[in-house]
Amino acid sequence: MGMGDVDPVFIQAPEHRPKPSVILAEGIPLIDLSPINYHEEDTVSDPYAIKGLVEEIGRACKEWGFFQVINHGVPLDKRQRIEAAARNFFALSLEEKKKVRRDEINVLGYFEAEHTKNVRDWKEIYDFNVQEPTYIPPSVEPIDKDVIQFKWDNRWPQNPPEFREVSQEYAQEVEKLAHKLMELIALSLGMPAKTFRGFFKHHTSNIRLNHYPPCPYPHLALGLGRHKDTGVLTVLAQDDVGGLEVKRKSDGEWIRVKPIPNSYIINVGDMIQVWSNDAYESVEHRVMVNSEKERFSIPFFLKPALYTNVRPLDELVNEEKPPIYKPINWGEFRTSRLRSNFVKSNVENVQI
Ligand code: SIN
Ligand code: FE2
Repeated sequence: MGMGDVDPVFIQAPEHRPKPSVILAEGIPLIDLSPINYHEEDTVSDPYAIKGLVEEIGRACKEWGFFQVINHGVPLDKRQRIEAAARNFFALSLEEKKKVRRDEINVLGYFEAEHTKNVRDWKEIYDFNVQEPTYIPPSVEPIDKDVIQFKWDNRWPQNPPEFREVSQEYAQEVEKLAHKLMELIALSLGMPAKTFRGFFKHHTSNIRLNHYPPCPYPHLALGLGRHKDTGVLTVLAQDDVGGLEVKRKSDGEWIRVKPIPNSYIINVGDMIQVWSNDAYESVEHRVMVNSEKERFSIPFFLKPALYTNVRPLDELVNEEKPPIYKPINWGEFRTSRLRSNFVKSNVENVQI
């Protein structure tokens, strides 16, 4: 494809194309997590010191479904090492990257043809699961043996040589942050801090490395089309280029998230929406590309074990607020999303 040639697979319908002007005056809430990092241990242990913080988190989850955090406790050097490894990996030849390419059975690894809502995204990605091997419970076995079975086996590239080590070290740190945030979210819902801990003994959390190359027609394509995250919680590191947009709940306007060095962008996924019985909703977002700069981002997606049944928490359900959702089996939910994506390729983006 030459510069200026427009490949129709990337073209968004007119109503979904990025607009030239975005509102920058107001953004998603910025939250300082230093109160939880006064404590040496990994738990949110001093309710008095964190009262204000818990309120801020609750408000952000309710009003935006998104917020940005600073003083989060993830060591900067670990982040810089995985960022460098991602750059080096994506700089390899396509042939080299395809050695660890995703296929229709094992859905982890490199992929350059992701589609969101049937339109191709202007990006390439690499996915790995944080816990390996991924625990596959017998209940996920499809009854119909002709149905596609998926595997989640990490495929580590040979190059750069440090790739696996830096990825796993980073994953441990960001996972700790995700659990601290889940404690704050539980407290903000009026529940004990440890409410969600038991759901993650086995888990299917993954990290995705995103590379968005410069795009010759950024007014027609998107780096990542509009979607909601299906998992529990997303902890995203974005570089200084910018491009992430969040749909503001109050008026449906797309709001650009300003890059803040060494911060993380946090958003609520569909499973928190179910657990909280819609108190906190998963919100649409998308990524713009530009014609000059490439962009890198690294989301961590916190996801439960495949056998987990997610249903509105008893404490948040009463006669006035009956449960909105039936129990969802995460394994079935995720597998059916993957299946329909491969078979029909017309469903929501699949955050595997
Ligand atoms: C995502 O929504 O998964 C990625 C967002 C980004 O690249 O900023
Ligand atoms: Fe997302």
